[in-house]
Amino acid sequence: MAKLNENYQNLKESYLFSEIAHRVAKYTQENPDKKVIRLGIGDVTLPLESEVVDSMHKAVDEMGNASSFRGYGPEQGYDFLRNAIKDYYTRNGVSVELDEIFVSDGAKSDTGNITDLFSVDNVVLIPDPVYPVYVDTNTMNGRKIVYLDANAENGFLPLPDESVHADIIYICSPNNPTGAVYNKEQLKIWVDYALKNDAIILFDSAYEAFISDESLPRSIFAIEGAKQCAIEFCSLSKTAGFTGTRCGYTVVPKDLKVTASNGEVMYVNKMWNRRQTTKFNGVPYIVQRGAEAAFSKEGMEQAQKMIGYYKENAKIIADTLDKKNMKYFGGVNSPYIWFECPNNMDSWTFFDYLLTNAQVVGTPGAGFGTNGTNYFRLTSFGNKENTIEAMERFAKLF
Ligand code: MLT
Repeated sequence: MAKLNENYQNLKESYLFSEIAHRVAKYTQENPDKKVIRLGIGDVTLPLESEVVDSMHKAVDEMGNASSFRGYGPEQGYDFLRNAIKDYYTRNGVSVELDEIFVSDGAKSDTGNITDLFSVDNVVLIPDPVYPVYVDTNTMNGRKIVYLDANAENGFLPLPDESVHADIIYICSPNNPTGAVYNKEQLKIWVDYALKNDAIILFDSAYEAFISDESLPRSIFAIEGAKQCAIEFCSLSKTAGFTGTRCGYTVVPKDLKVTASNGEVMYVNKMWNRRQTTKFNGVPYIVQRGAEAAFSKEGMEQAQKMIGYYKENAKIIADTLDKKNMKYFGGVNSPYIWFECPNNMDSWTFFDYLLTNAQVVGTPGAGFGTNGTNYFRLTSFGNKENTIEAMERFAKLF
């Protein structure tokens, strides 16, 4: 008889955003006349920028022509895109090498797949609350997870507890869901802790493009020592509206090494390359051409306009909470606004309350961890008119 991975028995019935979609679908089915506004999953609403679309059109034509058609591409990504990513890092003051960059279909896949490289014996440190993929994928592998409390007292930016040992550390900054961003000094503390513990930091930087405060680091590699202890995951999903187009990249430094139990020194970059070449056939050429365009000067200007639009939405949400004297986190260097549920409601109760009484969908904080039990996340990725309407409805309730 086939034996299954019984760790799946330890997972919640469904993934957070599937559960939300299910509840919303049920509500809309039962209330077809009601206009539901979705500020739940962080899915973009603006169309792809013209630089990206033009470039992808050109690539489609190339693929339809025998002389320029391409079959399998390099699993690590085409050099034209890796070079564009490398230049993007350089513009942000960080130096990475071409073969440290691995193009992928997004940060979600890579943050989940990277667990392939690590033994189940590792102790994994995961902040609570945080993006649920880290907990779910490590649970699937049966790894021991140690949680680190992120809360209002530490500004949702917890620092390491020196008395706790960890082998793998997840950090998400700007944070999903809280919107909090670590500064350089705080990240240095994490890097020092990782080096001291021989640990590896898995740094999720999917929202780096939302950082407008120039003093805040957009990459962990802006921190001295990080190349010896960190892997960085990035995405074009939120930077250039690629949630449906799918393209991200992961930077695995060549300096990052671990000594195996037999004494052999293993290079993580080589291992990831081995993993990707075996299990992944790369991102479609057409998509990579679109991604390349997003990193061009014009592409970046257009991306910044989109981000500016979403930031205005964040301000609309924040202004409403300000008027109601409701304290919140995020929304400035991040697309997410995180606040305590009113009237002592727990987050799923508040989710249902808001959906039923205002037809507004948000994300219950409990889905991101225990410390989110009484918190709620709204996203600024909706369209402006809907965000205004949602917040008017919200304001009437409280
Ligand atoms: C979110 O809403 O947290 C994100 O959209 C999820 C993701 O990027 O996978």
